[in-house]
Amino acid sequence: MSIVTCIAPVNIAVIKYWGKRDEQLILPVNDSISASLDTNQLCAKTTIMASPDFDVDRIWLNGREESINNPRLQNCLREVRKRAQLSPEMESWKLHICSKNNFPTAAGLASSAAGYACLSATLAKLYKVEGDISTIARSGSGSACRSVYGGFVRWYAGTDPNGSDSIAKQIAPPSHWPEMRILILVVNDERKKTSSALGMKNSVLTSELLKYRAEHCVPKRVEEMQQAIMDKNFEKFAELMIKDSNQMHAVCLDTTPPCFYLNNVSFGIIDLIHAYNEASKCVKVGYTNDAGPNTVLYLLEKNVPEVLGLLDYYFPSESMKNVEYKRGNPPQSFPLSKELISKINREKNQPGHLKYIIHTRVGDGPTYLENPREHLLDSKGLPVEL
Ligand code: DP6
Repeated sequence: MSIVTCIAPVNIAVIKYWGKRDEQLILPVNDSISASLDTNQLCAKTTIMASPDFDVDRIWLNGREESINNPRLQNCLREVRKRAQLSPEMESWKLHICSKNNFPTAAGLASSAAGYACLSATLAKLYKVEGDISTIARSGSGSACRSVYGGFVRWYAGTDPNGSDSIAKQIAPPSHWPEMRILILVVNDERKKTSSALGMKNSVLTSELLKYRAEHCVPKRVEEMQQAIMDKNFEKFAELMIKDSNQMHAVCLDTTPPCFYLNNVSFGIIDLIHAYNEASKCVKVGYTNDAGPNTVLYLLEKNVPEVLGLLDYYFPSESMKNVEYKRGNPPQSFPLSKELISKINREKNQPGHLKYIIHTRVGDGPTYLENPREHLLDSKGLPVEL
């Protein structure tokens, strides 16, 4: 019997992946860049046990048994088995996989990246795979390949039709820019959205703007973004992130049928951030949106209290007693000055547009947990929490 447990981070792209040139191999039309977030606030955790006593492969996700025949899961298993270095007897052993997130699925945060990165890292250790595992994670979900590294990460689109050069590499570790902070604004929204896989498939088929973006915009922008990160040039970093997020959502609108991921609250936050940056006479906050209405802010540590004050004023919590409203790193917030409020010149929103705010930072890549108490499977290979 063999058992491995691992945690892996969520990542939030600052140059977006939107569109595949190969649907089967999950090869993107352009490079992308993200930061992996601190696993203390957001992470996936996976335990995998291999045993000669198991009859079939089984998987439990967030407390429920799911089908092992999910094609993306099978992709990861196939890719890892190609590179496994196992004793012949272990090759026939079946697997029990148990995975969960440390944040509510209902938050609408992309959990597949952390989940597939975690699955790949756990499998890789169990199967003694050496070297880069980003291609294994990519075969589960494109953006997952960036979560196999910590810090700032670039996914190279590559040119090989087989995808051998479509890999992720770390640009810089978290310690390179320790002042960077992230505020995830979880927006109240019940609407059913088009999955990113379907949305980007339709974009590739129908959007002229997607082709223009991939050929003429991202190649230059991705180099500038990498340089901005290396130089710790926050204004440049934020400006590029804002442009790229808005262009991705413009591609979504240029798609037939169009996909609408942003809602009025997201637009209200975007407008407020522009008004705040303008009133501050410098770019203090960058924002970005994935395939949903949650807006993610990147900012420097020194500006966190004022920006939390800004959000408290313009997007107040449903109830002042809501202790869960701000999660993560300690949420000190400063009241906004009257002068700043008059310069911003926007209406206050009704309370309750935001579900909660997660305050986090850039963090490490996948980490193996050696303490047996961390395993999500018991000695018989069944979930400990069921
Ligand atoms: C908007 O990685 O979820 O978050 O490869 O089909 O699994 P698949 O798509 P996925 O797409 C994420 C798109 C995005 C932008 C990004 O993370 O770069």
